[in-house]
Order: sequence, then structure tokens, then C-alpha cells
Amino acid sequence: MAFRRILKYPDNELRQRSIPVSEDDDVKDLVGDLFDTLNVSGGVGLSAPQIGVHKRVIFVSCEQFTGEMINPIIKETNGTSKLPEGCLSFPGVSEDIERSDDVVVEYKKLSGEKVTEKFTGFPAQIVQHEVDHLNGVLMIDSLSRLKRSKVLKRVQKVKKGVYDMLNNSLEKTPKRIKSESHLSKKEVKKRKSRRKQNRR
Ligand code: CO
Repeated sequence: MAFRRILKYPDNELRQRSIPVSEDDDVKDLVGDLFDTLNVSGGVGLSAPQIGVHKRVIFVSCEQFTGEMINPIIKETNGTSKLPEGCLSFPGVSEDIERSDDVVVEYKKLSGEKVTEKFTGFPAQIVQHEVDHLNGVLMIDSLSRLKRSKVLKRVQKVKKGVYDMLNNSLEKTPKRIKSESHLSKKEVKKRKSRRKQNRR
């Protein structure tokens, strides 16, 4: 089990449709990785394709429900609400998304047990969001073009922020002086032979 890098929008892999987990496919490690990655990121839900594995596995972690769902299928939906939503693949983004209030979900646990369960409110919202990931559907797909371009700018800004942070820390490490042009020819020769000796 390990922390895995979470793919960020607009990575094309997030658009790929995931395949069902077959009876003989052992997804124990995958579920462990989803659990670990979710814990470290502090999210409430994560899907396998977000860590680059295109299998129909999600992990939900909220007050009302914590656990894995293998091959989840939404069988029934009821009512709708527009509520703010975030996604670990869209750092820094929160948008109002329309979701069903209740869902009945059929899924399998790691133990092999088949479950049909009804979720209401927050866990229902999470399940719908994560099942969308398995179909390559992202939260921004229901937004207007204008809002989508704003989201893209926001994600790029957050990304740039991370890169700037990295660059700043790189700049602090002393650079090796490559140029020796300020030295006399004799001094350059001396340094060269010294380096050669050191190599042995
Ligand atoms: Co998401």
C-alpha cells in the first residue's frame, strides 16, 4: 500500500472509461493505495482512474460511510440538488453541481460480499461524483463553457504556484560554477588534473 500521484485535469487519462473488475482480479493493493492516497490528500472520495488505474473501483470516506466499492452501479436516483463540489483532480476548484439527493448503489466489497445500499445527501453526492470518474466524466462537464474556462485557469494557476514553489527551493541550492574563464590557463590545467586524480 502506498500513496499514489493523483492525475490532474486536463490529463487525458481522466477521460478514459474504466473496465469492470473480474472475479479473478485481485484489487486488494489497489484498494489499499486508494485508501492511503485519500487519507494523505484529505479528500472524501477517490476513484482508481485518478491514480492511473482504469478499473471500476472507488473509495468513499465520509462520516456516514467509509469503504471501497468495486463495480458500483447506480440503480435508482431520487430528487436533485445543486451543491458545491470539489475534486482532487481539480485542486483549488469548487463549483455548484447538480446531483441526485438519493441513490441506490449495487457494489461489491473487497471481501466479495455483494451489497445493495441506499445513500442520502453527502455520501450520495460522493458516489455519483466517483462513478462519473469511472466513465471518464468530470465535474466540469455540466458547467457552461465560460465557467469551464475559468476552472481551467484556476487549475493552471494552482499548478503554476506549485512549480514556483519548487523553482524557489531549487534556486536556494548552490549552483556549481561551470565557467572557469576567470582563471589563468595554468590554474585551469591544475584543477583539471586534480579532478582526474580525485576520480580514481
Ligand atoms: Co473527483
